[in-house]
Amino acid sequence: MKIGVFDSGLGGLVITKAFINAMPEYDYFYYGDSAHLPYGDKTSGRILNYTLDAMRYMIANDCKIIIIACNTATSIALRYIQQRFIPSYAPDVKVLGVVIPTVEVAVENDSHSVGVIATSATIRSHIYRAELHKIVPDLNIEEIAAPELVPAIENNDFATAQEFVREYSRSFTACDSLILGCTHYPLLKNMFREALPKVRIVSQDELMSAKLKDYLLRHPEIENCLSRKSERCFKVSALNTHSQKVAANLFPDIPLVKA
Ligand code: DGL
Repeated sequence: MKIGVFDSGLGGLVITKAFINAMPEYDYFYYGDSAHLPYGDKTSGRILNYTLDAMRYMIANDCKIIIIACNTATSIALRYIQQRFIPSYAPDVKVLGVVIPTVEVAVENDSHSVGVIATSATIRSHIYRAELHKIVPDLNIEEIAAPELVPAIENNDFATAQEFVREYSRSFTACDSLILGCTHYPLLKNMFREALPKVRIVSQDELMSAKLKDYLLRHPEIENCLSRKSERCFKVSALNTHSQKVAANLFPDIPLVKA
């Protein structure tokens, strides 16, 4: 049985790389729903349906634990998947998201004010606000949707991304921490750190592997089912030369194939 990582596209490969670096012995199955990317500007109903299809596909491919690396899918679909879908469809499978681990790290340093930058759908869900307030009820929270950032990264246009990072950063200068609440934003973390030198930038590629490792330690019933042949299988719902190039930059030896 494998560790599955799901994203709406290829952004989740950055977290997958962190997982593989920290826990190379396990087998990993990556699925990016690039045919429907971006999720961030879609309706909640469509995001839920796409994510459910992805879960069925990954479960059919022997995933025992699935990490939804996509913040948008986590925000809109995770609760339904955990509470309604998994108990009847595949009760032995565990599905986890990225929001709660990120929130836990964001409030670690006694933060009084936390910023969140994410896709429109994630911000609309207010999931970060709700989870942050569960831990620190009087926390100041500044949530901002940045619909331009994913397209700029997808087009490899980092000059435009940098302009938007500078513009958005102005809203977060008073924050103690800023959550980069999107799979693509770890690629911009240095730009945010440069624009906001006094703010702690919380980037999911730097925190998720420790969280997963800790989870597996606490859940031997899952960990014991995981195979350890260091196999990797990376699939996407739509394949083109651009996505193959992006994947090859991160994993030169692992082919990206169509699901
Ligand atoms: N994966 C999405 C997220 O983390 C970003 C890309 C998209 O909009 O689908 O929110």
